[in-house]
Amino acid sequence: MVDESEPAVPVVLPERIIPPRAYHDPAVHRDEVTRLFRRSWLFAGFTDDLRDDDDFITAELAGTSVVVQNFRGALRALHNVCSHRFARLQTAACGNRRLVCPYHGWLYNADGVPVGIPGNDEHFGFDRERRRALALDRFEVAVRGRFVFVRLEPGGAGLDEHLGAYGPLLDHVSAAFPDRFDDQTVPWAADWKIGVESVLEVYHVASVHPETFKPFFRGTWDIESQPPHSRGVAALSDTGVRYWNGIVRHLGLRTTDRHRDYDNITIFPNLALGITHGAMLSVQTYDPVAPGRCDLRFRLFLAAAERRDGPVRRHVEDSLRAINLRVLEEDRAVSETVQRGIVQARRPAVPGRNEARIHTFHAAWLDRMDRDDYSIMG
Ligand code: FES
Ligand SMILES: [Fe+2]
Repeated sequence: MVDESEPAVPVVLPERIIPPRAYHDPAVHRDEVTRLFRRSWLFAGFTDDLRDDDDFITAELAGTSVVVQNFRGALRALHNVCSHRFARLQTAACGNRRLVCPYHGWLYNADGVPVGIPGNDEHFGFDRERRRALALDRFEVAVRGRFVFVRLEPGGAGLDEHLGAYGPLLDHVSAAFPDRFDDQTVPWAADWKIGVESVLEVYHVASVHPETFKPFFRGTWDIESQPPHSRGVAALSDTGVRYWNGIVRHLGLRTTDRHRDYDNITIFPNLALGITHGAMLSVQTYDPVAPGRCDLRFRLFLAAAERRDGPVRRHVEDSLRAINLRVLEEDRAVSETVQRGIVQARRPAVPGRNEARIHTFHAAWLDRMDRDDYSIMG
């Protein structure tokens, strides 16, 4: 618990803070992609969308378009770019379709090899070996609970090792929150790190979310660091408990007792989970798009319920969608001002003791980047 009455002591040295230029410099962005994102397990979607043969999901992971597809029960992650003349192979966010290019109809197998090339004998004459040389890049894919992760460059810790103490938590929420009722992507004119930082503290809640978020919380915040990941639990206010108990009752939700308050977990580098009163799960990723730009993708889930349809259910889902979007719009607006400010910053940021999860995040970022290049001010 953060005790505001304690005397302020610096908890972090400036050299453990990400320098401001790392939030907008194109050279740093390129380094982040190669050193950090390509070597990390990145959240790509849910097994919910991959149950059947030829089910697929697509994701744009740090500038690489990836398709994860079910090939007769086996999940494969492949570069979603045709070897012929580079069309996207799967263009939807998810669906059920063979891995066939929409442009000229090249068909790919589970190894990413183009096994069906219309007019091959006449126009190309590719033998087996030549076709194998044209295989799509293949990436590592691993699953925890219903969460699907992809790593673009092989090597390093396995997914379970990477998740550490939060692996069982992903198992638990996978079982507890089966019903997705929202899935949206919102472009932010802010660096992905600013997006992640916006969920790492509740210091901003009183100023940024005075009507949407603040009334539901007591203002206390228990934090726990499991580097490179971290977790914060904010106690619900009486208003918050009443509101959520009403929803639980109206919808007949079977809530999980493990997350009674508002529980926020960030999985490095860019995945955030928010669990409210054991009733709702929000899953967010802040995907880097370009220096100073990211895409926030968020999904909302409800706990298991007796009934999943009817006007009451629809009404509650609509209002939860609306309030969630409003909170995220408040975060987007202030984060975009941070982006405009950070390009003018000449000193490192000064997170306080009540922003300790920011310190964990910055230390993890610096560990993965080359410290000699980045642990400098300015
Ligand atoms: S670009 Fe894919 S088949 Fe031509
Ligand atoms: Fe916020």
